[in-house]
Amino acid sequence: MTLLENPLRKTALALATAAAASMTFSVQAAEVEVLHWWTSGGEARAANVLKELMEAEGYGWEDFAVAGGGGETAMTVLKSRAMSGNPPSAAQIKGPEIQEWGELGLLGELDEVAGAEGWDELLPPTVADVMRHNGSYVAVPVNVHRVNWLWANPQVLEAAGVEMPTTLDELFAAGEAIREAGFIPLAHGGQAWQDATVFESVLLASGGTEFYQQAMVELDPEALGSERMIEALETFKRLRELMDADMSGRDWNIATSMVIEGSAGMQLMGDWAKGEFTAAGLTAGEEYLCAAAPGTQDAFTFNIDSLAMFRVEGEEREAQQALARLVLEPTFQEAFNLAKGSIPARPDLDMNGFDACAQQSMDDFQRTAEEGGLVPSMAHGMAVRADVQGAIFDVVTNYFNSRDMAAEEAARRMVNAAQAAL
Ligand code: BGC
Repeated sequence: MTLLENPLRKTALALATAAAASMTFSVQAAEVEVLHWWTSGGEARAANVLKELMEAEGYGWEDFAVAGGGGETAMTVLKSRAMSGNPPSAAQIKGPEIQEWGELGLLGELDEVAGAEGWDELLPPTVADVMRHNGSYVAVPVNVHRVNWLWANPQVLEAAGVEMPTTLDELFAAGEAIREAGFIPLAHGGQAWQDATVFESVLLASGGTEFYQQAMVELDPEALGSERMIEALETFKRLRELMDADMSGRDWNIATSMVIEGSAGMQLMGDWAKGEFTAAGLTAGEEYLCAAAPGTQDAFTFNIDSLAMFRVEGEEREAQQALARLVLEPTFQEAFNLAKGSIPARPDLDMNGFDACAQQSMDDFQRTAEEGGLVPSMAHGMAVRADVQGAIFDVVTNYFNSRDMAAEEAARRMVNAAQAAL
């Protein structure tokens, strides 16, 4: 491959050219204010790509970053801003929540940009559907994250004499060996969304994709209260044995840094964790390992980040439309996703410049889309409405942290949580 064919090089060139072009603007045309929760090392590098591209076109960028993995705090802040009649130009809003904001009449449409840029042809229909409200585009997808991943430090695995686990039984066995070798087996942060992230991967492994779909997407009370659910809950709770005593409240990226530094062996987390390994300068497949979460090789829990556009006027709207256009252009899709750990939202891009984990993610995404196994992540707002998700989080985290709640009781509460919300 020549240097010019290399997509990474092309991206770097495009960014440099764009930055040079921006210097010719002395007055900024208009500004966008963008709410997001991309504040970890890798996330901030990714967000910066969009800021630079906007500035290169002569637009101003007002960063409205609200820290907190999973975005719960960001959503609370967004609600109070929107209620006071002063929403940002764009916000990181995902999945079914886009419809909820659309129903409130607060979102602006992007049909002109979408038409000019051919979004209907560019995006897979399942992705495009989520971005539309009442037939109009109101949001633009930035990426596809996979949630069911296991990350590991190869030196720790080697010191413990174990391989990357491929089943839940192997995970427990590897974890024991890692502990005996003097490391923390599984890095985790005790926050509700992280508990739910781990839980859904265990549910997928122990119940299979069809069962996951029935329980976490269709909220079928029979599935939620079933023996299979009880088994999954019990296995999930056993994972505590592989975690350390200081996990309570720990941020996800701090847990990732424990794997990077080698005090812990593994982490179950979505591929935004890869953004941290990348930011630390590590090479996939050599200095860190990735694999589908044990027992979920035939599944892909997807989590699509998107920016929804609020109804704004005048120059701000002009800047907002430029933002929407830039997000789906190849330059942004490549540079952002390389830093973020995700894969592009448009399937037509060359993946040669991406690492082995991203290439596996793209292959698995396409394979599971064809063969079945592609399911929306409950923990990351893709499967159910925000209130149902909140109720499920409560059950999962209370059970995980309780000394005496039986799995049967947690399953019963799961049924109630889903019913109350219907
Ligand atoms: C978002 C990611 C983000 C992660 C951790 C997920 O819900 O989709 O973009 O990196 O939370 O904050």
